[in-house]
Amino acid sequence: MTGLPKNIVILTGAGISAESGIDTFRDEGGIWDNHRIEDVCTPEAFKRNPELVQEFYNVRRAALLSPEIKPNAAHYAIAELQNEHSGTVTVITQNIDNLHERAGSTKVIHMHGELLKARCIKTGRCYDWNTNIEQSDICPCCHTKNTLRPHIVWFGEVPLMMDEIYKAIEKVDLFVAIGTSGSVYPAASFVTEANARDADTLEINLKPGQNQSLFKRAIYGLATEKVPFWVESLLKNNVSRRYPGLTKKKFD
Ligand code: APR
Repeated sequence: MTGLPKNIVILTGAGISAESGIDTFRDEGGIWDNHRIEDVCTPEAFKRNPELVQEFYNVRRAALLSPEIKPNAAHYAIAELQNEHSGTVTVITQNIDNLHERAGSTKVIHMHGELLKARCIKTGRCYDWNTNIEQSDICPCCHTKNTLRPHIVWFGEVPLMMDEIYKAIEKVDLFVAIGTSGSVYPAASFVTEANARDADTLEINLKPGQNQSLFKRAIYGLATEKVPFWVESLLKNNVSRRYPGLTKKKFD
């Protein structure tokens, strides 16, 4: 492909924030090595033991707000692309951190929710929340206890803003997945939708994700190195040039 694709959709996962100091889920020593999904990341877990679930997210919220956690070069490069591209750049993230926004991305679709928000289970209203959420907290809208939960999409729940996501994918020219293992649906199927619309599809990851065979192209390496390099090459309109680390896959 030559020239800059008009409509770009970027899907990010935990790998883009790994070098900012946020643990991924399925890499060795990742979050799911130390916690069971069914204990902390399902509606049933929250019903059974809300304190444990709140604590799981309280620890992660505090960590996200610590001064050591900052956006990295990959987040900044995506923000630059969003700001400089005359077409559309839709950023969809599975991440619940706010590092894209802190790097300057103007619009980010958080399909799995946001750590720095609390939601009332009665009204569905969301509130910016920078401290622990406790079961004893009084909800700002219904003025009772035990009604605030993390604004996170748990396993078994429907991801957020799916209409907006599919609208963006409907007209996508280039779909890029960055730092995601391609093992959680529906996000892992977006590449299939993009292929069905004849878009170019690119995986940028440390190592091939589970759905790697679905991508037309791949760049493997650290997000902080490969993403700025890819953005630079796009903004120079030189995407057809050969770059070290960029492998064109053969497929039938
Ligand atoms: N640069 C690029 N990629 C990296 C880096 C890095 N520095 N470090 C790790 N990766 C890659 C890994 O190779 C892996 O493919 O990031 C990916 C992280 O995969 P997961 O831990 O499975 O994270 P993700 O795909 O975002 O998980 C999806 O699963 O449990 C849920 O809700 C959670 O949103 C999350 C979803």
